[in-house]
Amino acid sequence: MVKIAPSILSADFAELKKEIQKVEDGGADWIHIDTMDGHFVPNLSFGVPIVKSVRPHTQLPLDCHLMVENPENYINDFAESGADIISIHAESTVHLHRALQMIRSAEVKAGLVINPATPVSMIADSLHMTDLVLVMTVNPGFGGQSFIKETVSKIEQLAALKQEHGYSYEIEVDGGINDETAKVCIEAGATVLVAGSYVYGASDAGQQITNLKQSVK
Ligand code: DX5
Ligand code: ZN
Repeated sequence: MVKIAPSILSADFAELKKEIQKVEDGGADWIHIDTMDGHFVPNLSFGVPIVKSVRPHTQLPLDCHLMVENPENYINDFAESGADIISIHAESTVHLHRALQMIRSAEVKAGLVINPATPVSMIADSLHMTDLVLVMTVNPGFGGQSFIKETVSKIEQLAALKQEHGYSYEIEVDGGINDETAKVCIEAGATVLVAGSYVYGASDAGQQITNLKQSVK
């Protein structure tokens, strides 16, 4: 069964505790936390203090997506604050191997993210040290954008490599996910769906989560 990771980027920050409770009650599997630094992406969001504040209020794994330059500077702080998964962009550091090692040394699951313009070949030599590969299905920086369908072939490539080499990484997709694009991604091999506006933009978040889970049935 596919996992759903609602992105709190689209939540009402003044009601964050309730907004998290709402999706947890509605069947969410992970909570997706989008950190943006205004350099790697043209937007600012939030960082470690939010992870720390949220941690005591949910049992769900905190899936931290770092859209920042030089992510190695923040890995230990995220880990100490209660992150369960830390995902870093292949385009964000020249020391990708070291950064992935740092995440695993902190006993956190290591995720590797590629932007829509980045080929799977760029991360082929790092797949053995990742617990999750995140395929961006929009250009990162903002919620509410449209799904880029050319990214689907990368989900298929990652699923094929996983099978060929016996890897166990999750294949996550992020950006423009709704009940239609979810179906396409799951059929291509995605195992985790991030959804921001589709979940938080509707009056019944739980129903939206159910729709995503049932999109392939
Ligand atoms: C985009 C973020 C996403 C974003 C997704 O840069 O990484 O996680 O919140 O939002 P939707 O689902 O609205 O495209
Ligand atoms: Zn994200």
